[in-house]
Amino acid sequence: MFKKLFSYIIPINVFKQKSNISQTLEVTWSNGELVLDSKNTNYSYGSLQRILRKGLKFIGFGRIKTMNNILVLGVAGGSVIKTLVDEINFEGKITGVEIDNNVITIANKYFHLNQIRNLEIIIDDAFEFVLKTKDVYDLIIIDIFQDTKMPLFLFEPFFINRICDLLQPKGFILFNTMVLNDKQKQLNLGFLNAFDVTQYNVTKLHKVEELNELIIVESKL
Ligand SMILES: C[S@@+](CC[C@H](N)C(=O)[O-])C[C@H]1O[C@@H](n2cnc3c(N)ncnc32)[C@H](O)[C@@H]1O
Repeated sequence: MFKKLFSYIIPINVFKQKSNISQTLEVTWSNGELVLDSKNTNYSYGSLQRILRKGLKFIGFGRIKTMNNILVLGVAGGSVIKTLVDEINFEGKITGVEIDNNVITIANKYFHLNQIRNLEIIIDDAFEFVLKTKDVYDLIIIDIFQDTKMPLFLFEPFFINRICDLLQPKGFILFNTMVLNDKQKQLNLGFLNAFDVTQYNVTKLHKVEELNELIIVESKL
């Protein structure tokens, strides 16, 4: 309780570990909230949770509540999963795919992710997972970062087509991106243009919390 209160004055770090994928993984009390950060960016809770909440609000909490199957690519501390479960009361199945086993150990210890009964965590590379899975999803949340970098496979037509194949009719994709430079701007443009507008509604929510851009894709069919 003391750490939580004191964190309104100054952030208090409670755990730090080196990571091959994220450089460092840090759990910190910040403004009365426990957050997970990589070396250079916020990974879970705090601003990241607010960003994805905006995307979920755009799709509509009521609509999401009626869904059956949600896929989350990039789990970290699981803040979007907490929004789905605690704020939307989503009771369908959530599948979370995370490449880094250490992140899940942290998520369970500090954020009690293992207490969510409708969540299945799969430790795998998201690219490998989408190639293998035979399931289809009403909503696919893509939130994959390696510190501030987004792997390039996310922007390749092969991955985008595969994600579209995994969508239920009238399903949604919610893609969180960070635009730090012109190259990333171009990658986002390429992603947006990859969708056939006769089959998909594509919306860009620009400057969500400074540097993030959310892309929301809705299948019309
Ligand atoms: C911003 S965090 C995800 C935050 C999470 N969605 C939330 O709501 O709290 C990004 C995560 O992507 C994971 N990641 C990076 N590359 C990956 C990959 N190829 N496949 C799966 N997960 C990956 C990182 O380990 C990190 O945990």
